[in-house]
Amino acid sequence: MPKIMVTGANGQLGSELKELAATWPAAEWWFTDLPDLDLTDGRAVLAEMAAFRPDFCVNAAAYTAVDKAETDAANAWRVNVDAVENLARACKQLNSALIHLSTDFVFDGHHFKPYLETDPTHPLGVYGRTKLAGEQAALAHNPATVVVRTAWLYSAHGNNFVKTMLRLARERGHLRVIADQVGTPTYAADLAEALLHLMRQLFAQYEPQSDWKTVTGLEEIYHYSNEGLASWYDFAHGIFELADLNPQLEPIPTSAYPTPARRPAYSVLDKHKIKRTFNLPIRHWRDALRQCVAKLAAEE
Ligand SMILES: NC(=O)c1ccc[n+]([C@@H]2O[C@H](COP(=O)([O-])OP(=O)(O)OC[C@H]3O[C@@H](n4cnc5c(N)ncnc54)[C@H](OP(=O)(O)O)[C@@H]3O)[C@@H](O)[C@H]2O)c1
Repeated sequence: MPKIMVTGANGQLGSELKELAATWPAAEWWFTDLPDLDLTDGRAVLAEMAAFRPDFCVNAAAYTAVDKAETDAANAWRVNVDAVENLARACKQLNSALIHLSTDFVFDGHHFKPYLETDPTHPLGVYGRTKLAGEQAALAHNPATVVVRTAWLYSAHGNNFVKTMLRLARERGHLRVIADQVGTPTYAADLAEALLHLMRQLFAQYEPQSDWKTVTGLEEIYHYSNEGLASWYDFAHGIFELADLNPQLEPIPTSAYPTPARRPAYSVLDKHKIKRTFNLPIRHWRDALRQCVAKLAAEE
């Protein structure tokens, strides 16, 4: 049975993977985050990984503060690029497959049709540039790598748009939300399940041979989000509908809400490749959102 290391274990995706770990009890799991293991410390990464010897390393750790990254580029680079290189090198040495997470922000959003994995990248900001360089580092230093680009993540864990909207709706009667950026809200719990699905399929090929070279589906980039698309305004509308809240919601253009980092106006991801390769079902973002909003309500 596989040994699975998960970095960024206290983040949104990491927390969802922790919840899901029980559904694959035969696997041996190791969840790690700061301060236990700082991934920018290459020696520590190799030493700790050599002690565990994972079959899979799921890298859910990242510098995700998109606006802060604009004035903190060196730190964003250390986490999103240098740390990824550390993990990829250790994976190569230890014969581990790396499942590395990336972002729709590698695109500039000028395309206006769902982005394929092969479409040219052109990040608009520091975060996107570091994530793109991180993808390249992962694939360059460990061929047994899968890069999964995702988008607009939310979860019952951590801070995200869903939780912010629910809080603001209770504090204020009137909210202004951007209506000219379009993407796909993605429930981190669905992404976590998709990653488990991928690992099960990869491991089923790997087990008898104990060499990743013969496993198909690696050394590839895949796009994953929930199905459908929405503006942030549509997303907020969906949240309030499901939570039975009724604030006055005003659609505004991006120009009315300036932020340090520019964001793609359109970043819907085409998911045919991951669905086809791994026979992966994906549900609509509204169905996933319903589940998350119900979970948050049950926790109140
Ligand atoms: N959030 C989104 O909307 C979104 C969209 C598209 C793609 N993604 C990608 O999806 C992945 C998961 O995102 P997420 O939202 O789950 O991230 P998250 O909630 O921000 O969690 C990231 C985790 O990584 C940890 N971390 C940061 N620096 C580290 C280091 N040097 N060593 C070890 N751990 C470190 C963080 O710890 P601290 O909190 O202590 O810093 C945090 O626990 C990331 O690759 C992200 O780029 C996210």
